[in-house]
Amino acid sequence: MSNAASAPVGIIGGTGLTTLSSLEITGEREVETPWGAPSSMLVEGCLGDQPVIFLSRHGNPHRIPPHQVNYRANLWALENAGVRTVVGVNAVGGIHPAMGPAHVVIPDQIIDYTWGRGSTFYEGELDAVTHIDFTFPYTESARATVIAAARQQGVPVSDFGVYGATQGPRLETAAEVARLERDGCHLVGMTGMPEASLAAELKLNYVCLGLVVNWAAGKSDDIITMAEIEAAIEQGMSGVKRILAASMSQLGGLSPRSA
Ligand code: HPA
Repeated sequence: MSNAASAPVGIIGGTGLTTLSSLEITGEREVETPWGAPSSMLVEGCLGDQPVIFLSRHGNPHRIPPHQVNYRANLWALENAGVRTVVGVNAVGGIHPAMGPAHVVIPDQIIDYTWGRGSTFYEGELDAVTHIDFTFPYTESARATVIAAARQQGVPVSDFGVYGATQGPRLETAAEVARLERDGCHLVGMTGMPEASLAAELKLNYVCLGLVVNWAAGKSDDIITMAEIEAAIEQGMSGVKRILAASMSQLGGLSPRSA
C-alpha cells in the first residue's frame, strides 16, 4: 500500500489546533480556488522529514463556524498543492461509554446530518452526473497507519467509531444525542462532513483524528461548558500531536486513493 513516491500530507486543524507548533515552517501561501478562498493560508513545512501542508479549518484566528467553513475551497486547495492524503483533526463529543473527554477516536464510518453546505464538486455546468462510491468514507490504509502510530506512541485510541456530523453551531439536545445513539453514532461533531466526501470526490486519502472534548449532551449529569472543552483540549491535544508526528512519513507514502 505504501512505496509510492512521497507526497506532502495535508493536515486540517480544527478547534484547539489553529496552528501546529511542531511544524518547521518553510512558507505560507494565500491561495484562491474556483470555489473561493480556503479558511486560512496554506502553511507549508516539515514534521520531521515529511513535507506537510497545514490549513486551519476555522481560520487563524479561529473565527469561521462549522456551517460556514468553505470545505470545497479547503480540499481543492490542498489537492492543488499536491497533497494525496489528508488528516482531519476534529473536536468531537463522546457518545460511546469508552469515548470520554480527552480520548482520541479514529472513526471508520460517518452519518451526515448537515444541510445547506457546499457539499460537492459535481454541480453547475456538468457533462455528466457523477455518484462517487462512499461505502468506506475513511481510507483504511490511512486509518491503519494512524492507529499503529498511536499504539507505538502509547496514546490510547478507539480504532472504530461512527461519526455523526451535525449542523451546529449549537450543540445538540439530549434527545438529539439519544437519536444519534439509536442511529449507531459513537461520536458527534460539526465538521466531519462534507470534508470526508469532498476528499473522496477528489480521490484524496482521508482519515479523521477525533479528539473528544466533552460528553455529548445528556451523556453526563452536567451541561457542556467551554471550560470543560478547553480542559479536554489541553489534556488530549498532546497525544494528537504525537500521533501526527509518528504517522506523517508513512502517510506521505500511501498510494493514491483507488475508489
Ligand atoms: N456536539 C457536536 N459537535 C461537537 C461537540 C458536541 O458535543 N463537541 C465538540 N464538537
